[in-house]
Amino acid sequence: MTGTNFPSNYVEILPEVRAFLQSDLKLHIGGRWLPPISGAAFETFDPSTGRLLAHAPSAQADDVDAAVRAARATFDSGAWHLKLTPSERGRLIWRLAELIEAHAPVLAQLDALDNGKPVTKAQNVDVPLSAEHFRYYAGWTTKIEGATIPVSTSGMFNYTVREPVGVCGLIVPWNYPLLMAAWKIAPALAAGNCIILKPAEQTPLSALYLARLFEEAGFPPGVFNVLTGYGETAGAALVAHPGVNKIGFTGSASVARTILRNSADTLKRVSLELGGKSPNIIFADADMEQAVVGATWAIFGNNGQSCTAGSRLYIQRSIFERVLTGMSDQAAKIRVGMGMQKDQPDLGPVVSQEQLSTVLGYIEDGRGSGGETVIGGQRIGGSLSNGYFIEPTIFTQVQDSMKIAREEIFGPVVCAMPFDDADDVLRRANETPYGLAAGLWTRDLQTAHRFAARMQAGTIWVNTWGDTDAASPFGGYKQSGHGREMGKEAIDLYSEVKSVWIRVG
Ligand code: NAI
Ligand code: MG
Repeated sequence: MTGTNFPSNYVEILPEVRAFLQSDLKLHIGGRWLPPISGAAFETFDPSTGRLLAHAPSAQADDVDAAVRAARATFDSGAWHLKLTPSERGRLIWRLAELIEAHAPVLAQLDALDNGKPVTKAQNVDVPLSAEHFRYYAGWTTKIEGATIPVSTSGMFNYTVREPVGVCGLIVPWNYPLLMAAWKIAPALAAGNCIILKPAEQTPLSALYLARLFEEAGFPPGVFNVLTGYGETAGAALVAHPGVNKIGFTGSASVARTILRNSADTLKRVSLELGGKSPNIIFADADMEQAVVGATWAIFGNNGQSCTAGSRLYIQRSIFERVLTGMSDQAAKIRVGMGMQKDQPDLGPVVSQEQLSTVLGYIEDGRGSGGETVIGGQRIGGSLSNGYFIEPTIFTQVQDSMKIAREEIFGPVVCAMPFDDADDVLRRANETPYGLAAGLWTRDLQTAHRFAARMQAGTIWVNTWGDTDAASPFGGYKQSGHGREMGKEAIDLYSEVKSVWIRVG
């Protein structure tokens, strides 16, 4: 029996959550709940306590095959993209958004328990943004248009239509379990695809719960399938399967490379949303208070476990000490605690023992190469010693060439580095294999536009950080990914264009 025993300082676990954790969790395939053929399961933990939460079914290649067949059968029957009108599809997606909102407390607790994030953050950020994402794409079902093309062949009428790609395997990470899934599912659905979702092995719960909401909304069986399991097994089998037309992936660059290799035999369409080492530049003329608070949360938001974390902080030399003092004061005030504790913290633990070791390893490496921690740098012990808690950490005395300044840490660790000259900082900011996001803080309009034009990243934030919207395209330059999610661009990402020629002359 799992998921029954929680610390006394936790908020009350909802009966639905308790029942879900104690239930026999199954894969969702073709509208049915099935145990994995092998019977294998894996454990998922509460990173705030290190305690076991639940056993989730561990899908293997044969389960992947069953899910692909189910999704294919539904796709080929046209039950989703042909037999329902665009308006009917839009209504179902909208209905799903409403159900996500209605079940927000449950989904928030599941993500808070599984990922460790404060439940209020899950409830006020992750879940509403997920619902909004479905709403936005519900509106797209009736607006996916082709064009009539003025071809120069006489007697020919040519037009285009956008059609779904087919069966999409969506592989998502653990940092925003529900939201990262929503980013992919919503446009894939709107474009008419059938879906197999593979959540991260660290956070399988909300994806399984979401499948219940798909059932309740009344989607045709087989439109949405969920396979929980490991990346190396379930994920890899999905990538290699000839019945899958497209893989949408968010995660590490190293797994992205493996996915590209493994998708080569079947020449699958692959879109990738990867990490970064995003530069955040503060000019001396910036609104100081805004910049200090903004740069603090650019890195420490979600514990640095964000693909867009502002992890390379460049500060103009004349204000370097001032910004550093301001950020240290801010960081010292951040309350770190268990995601489900009654007295809600600002930040929870990092997601796993593995992530804890990785982040602490980077901190050690930074110190070893001459970096100095002005604040933080330790694992948090005491009443939090069973969980994976790390102090918000600010490094100075960092060179651009150091490992902590080059590699994605994916934890609450920022490198603060001074700069003298605008051209020089622009060059340094762009000197990275990544290109997901970049930001600057300045009151100077010319600087703002010049940097927005010259920084090599898919998203530029000026006097702000971290904003995303379902309507605005998001994705990476360089090694931060292929393709753009959100906005109209995501409809393109999940559809094919067909060109039709008709002899009329
Ligand atoms: P990961 O890239 O291993 O995991 C992401 C997803 O890919 C998970 O669902 C996983 O099961 C799946 N996966 C793993 N191996 C696979 C394979 N061979 N074939 C198909 N799917 C596979 O990320 P991980 O190990 O959890 O975190 C490691 C680092 O990756 C982090 O420290 C961070 O730097 C980066 N990362 C970046 C994210 C982002 O939002 N861009 C999200 C998560 C991690
Ligand atoms: Mg991994």
